[in-house]
Amino acid sequence: MLKLQFTSFPTLETERLILRAHTNADAKALFALRSNETVMKYIYRERPKDIFDVQTLITTLNKGFENGDNLVWAIALKNNPSEMIGEIGYYRTDFANHRAEIGYMLNPDYWRKGIISEALIKAIAFGFKNINLHSICADVSPENNASRQILLKHGFEKEAYFKERYYFQGKFLDSEIYSFVNLS
Ligand SMILES: CC(C)(COP(=O)(O)OP(=O)(O)OC[C@H]1O[C@@H](n2cnc3c(N)ncnc32)[C@H](O)[C@@H]1OP(=O)(O)O)[C@@H](O)C(=O)NCCC(=O)NCCS
Repeated sequence: MLKLQFTSFPTLETERLILRAHTNADAKALFALRSNETVMKYIYRERPKDIFDVQTLITTLNKGFENGDNLVWAIALKNNPSEMIGEIGYYRTDFANHRAEIGYMLNPDYWRKGIISEALIKAIAFGFKNINLHSICADVSPENNASRQILLKHGFEKEAYFKERYYFQGKFLDSEIYSFVNLS
């Protein structure tokens, strides 16, 4: 059975980025990110009401890591590692089937600069090599073309379309699943 347990949080580096654990110092940036309707437009999750909601989220993410349930990195630029600009990670894991769901979001000031591509390549490689995943999936709103395009660009294929899959803010919403299977 797959395990998502590490002795310490796996900090990763790419050419421009550091992918690290969330700290309480990220609360303000994380609140700005998760309460930004441009960022959250296609993410069917309750928005944080205040900084306390975000502090609870940081604790939940860090406890989830300690318990081996999830692995979510805060994204920062190497030249300013304390300022979180986005996040990426494995939010849900299907241990029996060696499969995990990846998600990501980025502060719009940094969009279209290849930041999530850089983080995604690293997170996928880590997922296959270090977590021993067999497949990685992403759950995307059919209206979220940016997310669809980035997944297609990095080797994901469309796997499923669910009608009226989520009930959020008074509406039933469709969802597409993309996946990347490690056939090597
Ligand atoms: C989706 C998102 C993470 C992309 O991050 P990014 O760092 O701007 O993406 P990149 O610069 O690495 O783009 C890589 C590729 O993705 C695609 N892409 C990114 N943004 C796009 C957009 N607005 N429209 C169409 N394609 C887009 C393109 O194919 C792009 O390659 P190109 O620049 O060579 O054309 C970002 O728009 C975001 O945070 N959106 C809100 C949160 C969200 O929807 N998360 C996903 C939930 S499933």
